[in-house]
Amino acid sequence: MEILSPEQLEQYFRDGFLVMEGFVDEASCDVLRTRAEELVSEFDPAGLVSIFSTHEQSRVTDDYFLTSADKIRFFFEEDAFNPDGTLIHAKERSINKIGHALHDLDPIFNRFSRDKKIQRLIEDIRIPDPRLIQSMYIFKQPSIGGEVTCHQDSTFLYTEPTDIAGLWFALEDATIENGCLWALPGGHRRGLKSRWRRNGRGGMHFEIFDASPWPENELVPLEVAKGSLVLLHGLIPHRSLANKSPRSRHAYTLHVINGSSHYPEDNWLQLSTSMPSRGF
Ligand code: FE2
Repeated sequence: MEILSPEQLEQYFRDGFLVMEGFVDEASCDVLRTRAEELVSEFDPAGLVSIFSTHEQSRVTDDYFLTSADKIRFFFEEDAFNPDGTLIHAKERSINKIGHALHDLDPIFNRFSRDKKIQRLIEDIRIPDPRLIQSMYIFKQPSIGGEVTCHQDSTFLYTEPTDIAGLWFALEDATIENGCLWALPGGHRRGLKSRWRRNGRGGMHFEIFDASPWPENELVPLEVAKGSLVLLHGLIPHRSLANKSPRSRHAYTLHVINGSSHYPEDNWLQLSTSMPSRGF
């Protein structure tokens, strides 16, 4: 049984993204929110100085990030710290995201991520041999939720061919005010602008294919209700702005690749041989 109507399928391949209201029921959203809360409460941030930055410079040097592919790790908002390195707010109000193997390592996120409905959706968009490669729980904290600058997911999860998809589940209402997604309709047909590659010295660098700036004023906001799924083509340019509002904007994201495509050894995300990528 198909999940997408022919019109939705056409829309996805035309626009490079598709909003599906009510894909997940509210109770399932709350199960993930509660589980994320538990994971954060069990997490001891003492001694951890890794600050997840949405600006590439500090991410490049962040070994904690680069070895998180097959782990459950916690990354802070850039603006979470006082000048002396202490947290301004409570731990649970300071975390930018949890990544990147919740879907494999946590039973609750595993169950959510490997739901039959998601599997059928991926079949509809014709990704063969689908593998769940990456998951993130994104908090977009009130007041300090950082901006994610315009990018294509294939820059970070590069495959040949570039047949990957991102699934973005709104666990709370996402509005312009609290930092919803923005996307460039049809932008997936403009080609890949860059690749983020390991440089062989423990760091990363961008290989630039097209240095022209993003047409930021052509991106459209995707304001969606809790329970919505935004399906994103790997080449669609998208961003989210900072959350200056008093409301959080929790989301769960999942990335699916074609297990038969070429996955380069210099992509940042490398799974260990003991934990290879798995499908549904
Ligand atoms: Fe993205």
